[in-house]
Amino acid sequence: MNYEFIIANAQVGPYVASIQLNRPKELNALNLQLMGEIRHCLEIFDNDDSIRAIVIHGNERAFAAGADIKQMAGRTAVDMLKIDQFSTWDSIRKTKKPIIAAVSGFALGGGCELAMLCDMIVASETAQFGQPEINIGVMPGAGGTQRLTRAVGKARAMEMVLTGNFISAEEAREAGLINKVVPVELYLDEAIKLALKTAEKSPIAIQLAKESVLKAFDTGLQEGLFFERKNFYMLFATEDQKEGMNAFVEKRKPEFKNK
Ligand code: HXC
Repeated sequence: MNYEFIIANAQVGPYVASIQLNRPKELNALNLQLMGEIRHCLEIFDNDDSIRAIVIHGNERAFAAGADIKQMAGRTAVDMLKIDQFSTWDSIRKTKKPIIAAVSGFALGGGCELAMLCDMIVASETAQFGQPEINIGVMPGAGGTQRLTRAVGKARAMEMVLTGNFISAEEAREAGLINKVVPVELYLDEAIKLALKTAEKSPIAIQLAKESVLKAFDTGLQEGLFFERKNFYMLFATEDQKEGMNAFVEKRKPEFKNK
């Protein structure tokens, strides 16, 4: 896979792939091509049985400093509407396999939103999260008012969105935005470790579990519980359920076959 702005690695560990955002001079600013490359690569990874979890990362200085302001600066509302960049984001959200964001340095604007689009976030102590769009006369457009508010609550989301203030990795962890904070030299390894842990499980169970957790963002409680229950029942039609439960009873490690 030849990409210009990302580096795809189909095997950073057993069943774990990675995507590195690779526009270091521009602090990985997310231009349309880069987002298209992520989408394309995720579609391939999602359909590859040798991959069960994916890590997305940048470099130590920046995960991503937002959408590419230089690319957007001259655009009109009609241009933006026609470009329809959010269909790419919607498509990324539909990835069935778990995606872990490994964040170091800046995760701002669209960068913070991309991290939030992932299923879990591991950050280095140097990570900074923010929605500074207000400083350039706009506002978040890819989930920064919605996913952030659901994750950290109204008070903190309002402050971040209305003042552009950044929060540190530790503040983000306390607020429930991210999973883990580790020293900078470890953030990628820790993210891969988390991915490896999910990759050991039954991929079908992982897929339906991920889908069910995401459903909690879209529904009321009763409808969500109903959805969860259907997915729970469905797993009893899999060989992996028999294997998982039999292995527990027989006191051995399960061997999941994705069937
Ligand atoms: C384009 C960017 C960029 C961005 C940084 N650069 N962020 N280019 N779009 N979002 C470029 C700079 O222009 C500069 O290039 C180089 O990266 C290094 O950045 P510096 O500003 O020199 O670095 P520093 O002084 O360390 O400041 C880092 C920073 C600052 C605090 C992250 O770059 C910054 O404020 N960036 C913008 C952050 C932001 O507003 N993000 C939200 C974007 S809107 P040159 O060539 O000049 O040296 C958004 C909307 C999302 O994300 C909507 C959904 C998709």
